[in-house]
Amino acid sequence: MSQERVLTGITTTGTPHLGNYVGAIRPAIAASQRADVQSFYFLADFHALIKCHDPALVHQSTREIAATWLALGLDTQNAIFYRQSDVPEIPELCWMLTCMAAKGLMNRAHAYKAAVDANKEAGEDADFGVTMGLYSYPILMAADILMFNAKKVPVGKDQIQHVEMARDIAARFNHHYGEHFVLPEAQVDAETSILQGLDGRKMSKSYGNTIPLFLPEKQLKKSINKILTNLLEPGEPKDPDTSAVFQIWQAFATPEQTAGMRQAFADGIAWGEAKRQLFELINGQLAPARERYETLMADPVHIETVLQEGAAKARAYSKPLLEQVRAAVGIKKIS
Ligand code: TRP
Repeated sequence: MSQERVLTGITTTGTPHLGNYVGAIRPAIAASQRADVQSFYFLADFHALIKCHDPALVHQSTREIAATWLALGLDTQNAIFYRQSDVPEIPELCWMLTCMAAKGLMNRAHAYKAAVDANKEAGEDADFGVTMGLYSYPILMAADILMFNAKKVPVGKDQIQHVEMARDIAARFNHHYGEHFVLPEAQVDAETSILQGLDGRKMSKSYGNTIPLFLPEKQLKKSINKILTNLLEPGEPKDPDTSAVFQIWQAFATPEQTAGMRQAFADGIAWGEAKRQLFELINGQLAPARERYETLMADPVHIETVLQEGAAKARAYSKPLLEQVRAAVGIKKIS
């Protein structure tokens, strides 16, 4: 059977939260179990350096994210799971792509433009605080993707532009040096998989409204109790479609359970009771993985071994392709 190659990266800043789980981790792990998909998932630690200059945080986050994916059942026999910095072919390819990427293209990158706009707003120099890492970040991402000739790249909406840039850069390289790279496509999840946070906005670390995935049980309960609700009393009908409690419920519930909760809202379920049920639902689904997570976090040697095995598998692809690309640009032995 011909397998479709799917690749995605997880930037190693921060602790995984329910939004990451529902929007990215859960679908990725499900995809990795399909026989018609070959998955490449990696810890994007070079990307972490763009946003985070705290070494302890980058390191801790790498460990937490690796443990999270493994605890949730990522099958590392099926999926190739590795750390970006263990694949030295990626930064080397990044340079070759840098020499093919138009500066004008990078000028249009959203992340860079947002920084420039914020600077102008503040009356600063346009490039104040902008590193070359931030500026060239789409090229590193292109190298991540093209290194493994991935066809489908599952990403959030904010990353679509970067995948399109990878495609542009690949096309330019192919046009100049011959067909070496598959042109990748972004695969964007349906709207429903974007989870609301404690305050009803998109759950995101930058809003400080997240519920961490593997909080100890008591803290998970406390956190769920903090989800913003209105002041409707028990017995008063409540609107499920404007409620973060309901929206999060839906992300974990079966269709029958969702229909049941919709009815309960119509019947005026108390907020406290709805939250108690939400806690039971989420805790029930996450408790076994949480236990595996804690075991893994206490066994860094095991995590490291798994990552090293993943890197070896990844390099079985990246080494020959890089060799080919080096030759294509004219970098090869004299004799
Ligand atoms: N930049 C992506 C993000 O912040 C993470 C990432 C890095 C990535 N390299 C990638 C995603 C390659 C997909 C493919 O979410």
